Amino acid sequence: GEIFVQGLGGRRPLVPTAPAPLEAAAQRHLSEVAFAYVAGSAGAERTTRANLAAFERTKLVPRRLVGSHARDLSVTLLGHTYRSPLLLAPIGVLELAHPQADLAVARAAHAEGIPYVLSSQASYPMEQVAAAMNGTPHWFQLYWGTDDGVTRSFVQRAERTGAQAIVVTLDTTLLGWRPRDLDLGSLPFLRAQGIAQYLSDPVFRSRLNVPVAPAGGSPPRSPALLRVALQHLAKARTFDLSSTQIREACARFVATYTNPALGWDDLARLREWTRLPILLKGIMHPEDAREAARRGLDGLVVSNHGGRQIDGEQATLDALPAVVEAAGDLPVLVDSGIRTGSDIAKALALGARAVLLGRPYMYGLGIAGEAGVREVIRNVIAEFDLTLGLLGVRSARALDASVLAPGETGQ
Ligand code: FNR
Repeated sequence: GEIFVQGLGGRRPLVPTAPAPLEAAAQRHLSEVAFAYVAGSAGAERTTRANLAAFERTKLVPRRLVGSHARDLSVTLLGHTYRSPLLLAPIGVLELAHPQADLAVARAAHAEGIPYVLSSQASYPMEQVAAAMNGTPHWFQLYWGTDDGVTRSFVQRAERTGAQAIVVTLDTTLLGWRPRDLDLGSLPFLRAQGIAQYLSDPVFRSRLNVPVAPAGGSPPRSPALLRVALQHLAKARTFDLSSTQIREACARFVATYTNPALGWDDLARLREWTRLPILLKGIMHPEDAREAARRGLDGLVVSNHGGRQIDGEQATLDALPAVVEAAGDLPVLVDSGIRTGSDIAKALALGARAVLLGRPYMYGLGIAGEAGVREVIRNVIAEFDLTLGLLGVRSARALDASVLAPGETGQ
């Protein structure tokens, strides 16, 4: 209500309110390479369009005269009560959008009371990001690489920072085919991003055994490589490493951060390493949901990584109902294509317990830093609240398929 009234009062917003102008404004604020990476997706970007189209196709039908003047947006997840069904998705390399990166996002999440899923590939060490959350709940997203020592260290660090859950991302065991990045030749630059978390990790650092030596060799020629070199120097200063060690660290990072050999049985080790609830992110197939339930996982995130991995993958909103059905008692969250408050209502009506917001908050970060992220969060929640009120639904928990137009339940 507050935001809607302020809007009528004529305050000029920092960030555009609607999704398309928000993305357009972000494009003006980000470098060409950064915008291509953030906005871009796999292949012909059909899955990204399908994600949005599924929300477009799904229609809501309101009830009248039910007295929906006061709404309760809160949801209960994994034994905790959260202010609303909105969490911020894990996004690596936020430094591409703003120098304060994850720290700005964490401060915004704290200011708005919204949980934040910290990325393995954050631009700042998780201890600093968690401190910026200032007590507002955070989860930790894990990329499970080929070095169990590093993976375990990440999990233990996350536990020490007070993370409430571990989210294992399963859809990025190989990096997707991303034409926008390929065409700009920006992969070498992008590969050097997202390494801060690793450089701050004692086990990862113990693997670097190159003797301290001055950087040699000829100067890099292409602009992308020059940026990598500058990036390396900055990281070397921050993490007190030689540029030779930094180069070795980047090579090691690229070689070990993912593990396409990962299988279901590996999850038993993660269960031994932590007492925290474990969620699987990137679940699309009902059989995988059933397997997760059988193996005692704690929750699922239906996600196709915003369409960035497989071109032609099913839209998440279309995959959601069958996954929810197969998951039994496991809470199911969803992301990929959430752009507005009414999108949250649709996802919850189809059985999601909560949603993760991705690109829109990174756009807000690029446009106006912490304040931009705050405004994006406030807009989405304000619209969700209004949508509930106008639907005649008094609480987020009460949303179900009865608010959906017949024949619009996903498929
Ligand atoms: C991501 N995503 C992601 N997921 C994850 O588990 N760890 C990560 O480090 C990242 N990094 C990342 C970077 C960028 C630039 C983007 C756009 C996305 C995926 C993210 O968590 C989420 O699944 C998608 O962003 C959801 O799609 P939409 O809503 O952004 O289209």
